[in-house]
Amino acid sequence: MGTASPRDEPAFASATSLAEEFRRRHGAEPESIWFSPGRVNTMGAHLDYNGGPVMPCAIDRGTLVALRRRADGRATIASTSFEGELSFEVRAPPPRGGRWSDYPLGVLHALLARLRSEGRGPSGVDLLYGGDLPIGAGLSSSASICVGTARALSEAFELESSDLQVVEAALLAERGFVGVRCGIMDPYAVAMARPGALLWLDCKDASWTSVPLDLESVSIAVLDTHVRRELAQVAFNERVQQCSAAFEVLRTLQPAATCLRDIERATLERARALLEPPLASRAAHVVEEVARTFEARDALLAGDVAGFGARMTAAHASLRANFEVSVRELDLLVECATSVPGVHGARLTGAGFGGCVVALLARGAEQELREACGAAFAGLHGWRPSIEVYRPGGGPRRLAR
Ligand code: GLA
Repeated sequence: MGTASPRDEPAFASATSLAEEFRRRHGAEPESIWFSPGRVNTMGAHLDYNGGPVMPCAIDRGTLVALRRRADGRATIASTSFEGELSFEVRAPPPRGGRWSDYPLGVLHALLARLRSEGRGPSGVDLLYGGDLPIGAGLSSSASICVGTARALSEAFELESSDLQVVEAALLAERGFVGVRCGIMDPYAVAMARPGALLWLDCKDASWTSVPLDLESVSIAVLDTHVRRELAQVAFNERVQQCSAAFEVLRTLQPAATCLRDIERATLERARALLEPPLASRAAHVVEEVARTFEARDALLAGDVAGFGARMTAAHASLRANFEVSVRELDLLVECATSVPGVHGARLTGAGFGGCVVALLARGAEQELREACGAAFAGLHGWRPSIEVYRPGGGPRRLAR
């Protein structure tokens, strides 16, 4: 956690308008405004819920949270992106409503419970959300909201939360309160982010470290197809369930394994006849992606960016053929991006079924990537993808004002 200066902070322009909106709604200045990043994952696709390693980084786009404590035991939650305001007594049962506000409400609920367990009375708060993170694009707007809320409220309520406690509050909100079967990658990626680095998170034991990226020589681009699939959550849950069904069969041949990540290639080969075809393909993706992610990390640590990029592109092929979470718009962008000179690799990021492609490229190749992919995509689909270049930024931070 740190304090960013307004000039360094790309989200500052909208922080100023968020402060104005806050004054308009509440007749008072916000006590603080926080920036919480979104994330992209570069390697380790669909490995977090299989106990494997992942390599995400925070991006310099995200959620803004403006807040002010209240003394009357009431809370409000509102956003510049959605209509309406949730207003309630903090002592009453939380008004869960199947809306976006369930995410911050779940975090507030968890932190109020912590306050009470420390013998401190419930306090009230006004929360207003803004920012520039596209929703449903696979850039983890939900983790950005939850982690940012946990960090901001921890400070406001004088709860000294470690990064790990912030992650726990975010997971409690997403899994326990909203009821999403999410893995651990997203809140870790947001809370543990370090500028100029990828996070290496081993989801088997939640150990993590940072792997530096040489930002003098490489850029990270995110290409948004603008395709949003309504059934993405159902399809995601189906993949989670298929992986666990495959593991139930495979563990009979390798009893020491505790998760799909532990399964060896030889075990998978022996089990092919025992697994239904989709389950064999899902397991093959996981087993190969675990190996690729270790190789990618070693390549990056050895300064071999091209080797890292090659693993990203190979990951996409497996996500398309074995895991079946790609769509033709994503395939087109990966194909087009990887044909641009200076692009080291590209793949879909997030769960898939639409959303974004992440590409790793040499600095200086950004313009050609924009032109080539923009034109090829528009020619086929009739609309242009958004193509943004990001710096891997730090985790949630209070904005200086
Ligand atoms: C979604 C989930 C993550 C992870 C990815 C796939 O983004 O929220 O936890 O499982 O899909 O890698």
